[in-house]
Amino acid sequence: MSDTWIMPSGFPDLPPGQVHIWRLNTERDPAAGLTVLSAEERQRADRFRTNLLRARFVAAHAALRLLLGRALDLPADRLRFRQNAWGKPELAEGDLRFNLSHSGPWAVVALGRGIEVGVDVEMARHPPPVEVADIAYSAVERAALAGLSGPALTAAFYAVWTRKEALSKGIGRGFSFDFTGFTVSADPAERTSRPTLPPGLVGEADWHLHDLPPTEGAAAAVAVPAAEPGIAAWRFEPGLWGL
Ligand SMILES: CC(C)(COP(=O)(O)OP(=O)(O)OC[C@H]1O[C@@H](n2cnc3c(N)ncnc32)[C@H](O)[C@@H]1OP(=O)(O)O)[C@@H](O)C(=O)NCCC(=O)NCCS
Repeated sequence: MSDTWIMPSGFPDLPPGQVHIWRLNTERDPAAGLTVLSAEERQRADRFRTNLLRARFVAAHAALRLLLGRALDLPADRLRFRQNAWGKPELAEGDLRFNLSHSGPWAVVALGRGIEVGVDVEMARHPPPVEVADIAYSAVERAALAGLSGPALTAAFYAVWTRKEALSKGIGRGFSFDFTGFTVSADPAERTSRPTLPPGLVGEADWHLHDLPPTEGAAAAVAVPAAEPGIAAWRFEPGLWGL
């Protein structure tokens, strides 16, 4: 993966087995995209308490539909979704996999052609909410954080957070299982790593974690069940190529 988010010169092909990550700022063009949302998505948008939160949701879900539509060569408003047993949204048919994450102004969409994906972006707070580690981090992860402070603690805390979330979203389980029972690297410099998973959680799949290129104020990671899939990181701009 590149070290930066790349502006593509056209809509990039997504070959089988490869993963594309798209990042967008959801506050730049808030009204765009309402027309492609389903009635249910608009109802969800209307339940947000503030216009800002509503606009972020609309922009993220519109971008998701536009990207999936381009990748499938289908109209964005005609896509049909279903959910797995733990709520992970999936396309009703075909081999295109995807996952969405949003935090603050940022949204990240991961697309995998014939390969599962999980993605997480999280705005960093200073100091981080370390009490979360007591309920969601393994003993090994907590030990790695012990003794850290300041920016080093924040970087390690959110490296663990986003890598764990990406893995749980990749396997489609969300927060439905014991997060203290598996371990990810707490080293912010280890941009590609393998989680240590309990037997039976993921079957034979060989999950790997990759940090995404830097995003202002946030940490972000993607999980994929392959050692070396091609992963590209793209910037999504509303209005680009008719998106
Ligand atoms: C719901 C959950 C899947 C992600 O929640 P989140 O981190 O708050 O939010 P994200 O923006 O990263 O992801 C939300 C998106 O994931 C997708 N999603 C929902 N359920 C999912 C699941 N079971 N698996 C994968 N993706 C899922 C949806 O597209 C959702 O977007 P939407 O709500 O706009 O439709 C779940 O993992 C959760 O509640 N996580 C919080 C756990 C936590 O506190 N972790 C602390 C440190 S590790």
